Amino acid sequence: MLKLQKIDKWYDDYHALKGVDVEIKKGEVVVVCGPSGSGKSTLIRTLTRLEAIQGGRILFEDKDIYARNVDVNKLRARVGFVFQSFNLFQNMSVRNNLTLGPVKVLGISRDEANARALELLKKVGLEKKIDAMPANLSGGQQQRVAIARALAMQPALMLFDEPTSALDPEMVSEVLQVMQSLARDGMTMIIVSHEMGFAREVSSRVWFMDNGELLEDAPPDQFFSNPTHPRARKFLQDVVRPHDRAVSPLAA
Ligand SMILES: Nc1ncnc2c1ncn2[C@@H]1O[C@H](COP(=O)(O)OP(=O)(O)OP(=O)(O)O)[C@@H](O)[C@H]1O
Ligand SMILES: [Mg+2]
Repeated sequence: MLKLQKIDKWYDDYHALKGVDVEIKKGEVVVVCGPSGSGKSTLIRTLTRLEAIQGGRILFEDKDIYARNVDVNKLRARVGFVFQSFNLFQNMSVRNNLTLGPVKVLGISRDEANARALELLKKVGLEKKIDAMPANLSGGQQQRVAIARALAMQPALMLFDEPTSALDPEMVSEVLQVMQSLARDGMTMIIVSHEMGFAREVSSRVWFMDNGELLEDAPPDQFFSNPTHPRARKFLQDVVRPHDRAVSPLAA
C-alpha cells in the first residue's frame, strides 16, 4: 500500500530523516517508536505531504505522492491523520465535525453524511454526543471524535501521532481500545506511540527510529524479546516497565 524509498529530509542543515526505506501492506498495523527527536513525527508527516522531502520517493497505492500532479486534498482524504492535540473544529458540533469533510470534499449528500457520522460515533462509543460541542467533551472523548472524523473520509490508511500522550491517564485506554477495534476491522495504520503494551498486543510490526534512521522493522514478538540494534535495546530498557499498560478489556 505504501512504500518509502530512501527518504531524506532536511530542516535547513539538520538531517532529520536519513535514507528511510520501508513499506507497509494493506491491513498491517505499525507502531513507530524511538527517543524524542528521532524523527517519528517528521516521518509520518511526510506521508501526507505536511513536510517536503529532499530525497527518495513515497509511493502510496503505487503513485508518487510528491509528483506534481497529485491533488493534496484527495491524498489527505485517503490518508487520515490524528494528532496528539485533538484538532477538532471547536466552533462546530460533533456532527458537523464529522460531516463537513465528507460533504465538502467527497461530495456525498448531507443525509448520507449524517447517517455515516452516527454509525462512526457508535463505533467510538459516542453516539449520544452527536450534538455536543467539542469544548464540552473530555480529552478522551475529543480524541475519539477526532478518530471518527478521520474515518468519515473513508481513508485507506490512518496515521496517528501520539494520540494518547496529551490525555489524562484514565482516558488513555478508551482511545487505545478504539484503535484496537480499528485494527481488528483490518484498517491499515501507522501509529507513533510510547504505549509499548499496546504495541506488543496490537501491532503487526514495530519500527524503531533513532537519530533520523529507521533502525528496526520487526514483528512485535521479535522486537520486544530480541531487538537487534543496541540502541533499540537501550530504548526498551528505558521505556518498558512491568506495569506497562495493556489494552486487556477488548483483548478478552
Ligand atoms: N519544523 C522544524 N524545523 C527544524 N527542525 C525541526 C522541525 N521539526 C522537527 N525538527 C527537528 O527534527 C528532529 C526530529 O523531530 P521530530 O518531531 O520528527 O521527532 P520525534 O521523534 O517526533 O520526537 P518526539 O518524540 O519528541 O515527538 C528533531 O531534532 C527536531 O528538533
Ligand atoms: Mg513527535
